Amino acid sequence: MSSPAPRSNPLRLGVNIDHVATVRNARGGTAPDPIRAAREAVAAGADGITAHLREDRRHIRDADMETLAHVLTVPLNFEMAATDEMIDMAIRLRPHAACLVPEKREERTTEGGLDIVGAHDSLLSRVKRLGQAGIRVSLFVEPDEAVMDAARRLGAPVVELHTGSYCEAVAEGDAARTAHELGRIARAASYGAGIGLEIHAGHGLALDSVGPVAALPEIAELNIGHALIGEAIFVGLGQAIRDMRGAMDTARA
Ligand code: PXP
Repeated sequence: MSSPAPRSNPLRLGVNIDHVATVRNARGGTAPDPIRAAREAVAAGADGITAHLREDRRHIRDADMETLAHVLTVPLNFEMAATDEMIDMAIRLRPHAACLVPEKREERTTEGGLDIVGAHDSLLSRVKRLGQAGIRVSLFVEPDEAVMDAARRLGAPVVELHTGSYCEAVAEGDAARTAHELGRIARAASYGAGIGLEIHAGHGLALDSVGPVAALPEIAELNIGHALIGEAIFVGLGQAIRDMRGAMDTARA
């Protein structure tokens, strides 16, 4: 059997396993095990694993993050608020990457991107500490050209563009808003890559919305969680990941 041709601008899939931990925590026991999910995701083709250790530990817990940092054979993306507690933990665990996100206690999921323009001064030393520890810093931000400039000023090598508004527009069947939101992502990706940033994207992506984002040539990585874990209930985690990977590859080709 011939092996697939190498892709000239590969698109990585980072699988977010937070909601495996959400289900585990609903019963207070040990199953389903997010570490097992991470291993299955890697076996199914995930290029990396993302886990978000929230301040309230509502899904991923400290012990999960410690184990992931030690056992994973693919890059770990440690998603976190830009607090001293989290930065200290990341520096101790040395994940491949740290994705800094805004975090509000009452929100259901991460709402909106990080205000890196307003919070420049407080973020600067934190981005620097992580970078000096050899951790690739990614800033989860709104798709906007001025925000790309702000990320560069902070010295972050990577931005993750928030795709939530685009995915909401797709879900609502609002074609005009979908085109508008996709245009924002495309412009920010193109501008950001042009000034030397590595571009990731994520939040809310599902099989019916991933294609147009995956098709943007500047995007190097998509981080997807909820849709994959939800679909896993029906088709299994491995199949859900293979289906997503297939949709991404088709769009990129
Ligand atoms: N990227 C970031 C920075 C996120 O906060 C999240 C949600 O945890 C995701 C990607 C994945 O979003 P979803 O679970 O909706 O696929």
